[in-house]
Amino acid sequence: MQEFEPADLADVLRGRRSVNFFEPEPVGTEILLEAIEIARWAPNHRLTEPWRFYVIGDETAETIARFAADFELEAKGERAAQLRYDRLRAIPGNFILTSRRSDDEIVDLENYAACCCAVQNLMLYLWPHGIGVKWTTGAFTQTRAFFELLGIDPDAERLVGFFWYGIPKAVPTQKRRDVSEIVIEKP
Ligand SMILES: Cc1cc2nc3c(=O)[nH]c(=O)nc-3n(C[C@H](O)[C@H](O)[C@H](O)COP(=O)(O)O)c2cc1C
Repeated sequence: MQEFEPADLADVLRGRRSVNFFEPEPVGTEILLEAIEIARWAPNHRLTEPWRFYVIGDETAETIARFAADFELEAKGERAAQLRYDRLRAIPGNFILTSRRSDDEIVDLENYAACCCAVQNLMLYLWPHGIGVKWTTGAFTQTRAFFELLGIDPDAERLVGFFWYGIPKAVPTQKRRDVSEIVIEKP
């Protein structure tokens, strides 16, 4: 078995942050595909392997930015639409993760849970490579029209997230409440 220092793993787990702003140069899909191959070793009940990773190229990124801008235009007007478009076009890399739906409520929930484990694997794998990720679930991504735009059947798959990735321009700080607030010991 390969040896690693648990302290290193703890540093990655604690140090990973959601990244808001990226350097403009894309990191390319090779490292992302490598991370996806790792990500899918996440636990998944009944081995449903419910994850589908859509690796977004520039043409699709442009289509998404236009869709998001149109969505914003209706909700908040022209200035907000332009800001949304510019913001999304400044993101160097994107992927979308969906979870296979199931008619069985528990399986559906567990599929989504497995996808969340997978994406955490992916983010943690990329972080020590100097690549940050942001998980987003903004209103425009929650529409059937967004799925239809991407040629994904919204009755067969549900959105886990629309993800941004690249080299962080800045790493935000974060905090967590005291661990004593979240641990309930039972005799
Ligand atoms: C299911 C899920 C959805 C999220 N959606 C958004 C989002 O739409 N916009 C956003 O800015 N951050 C989003 N985030 C990122 C969280 O805001 C972020 O994880 C949180 O602020 C803690 O920061 P950290 O990841 O650096 O610890 C999402 C995270 C999860 C798990």
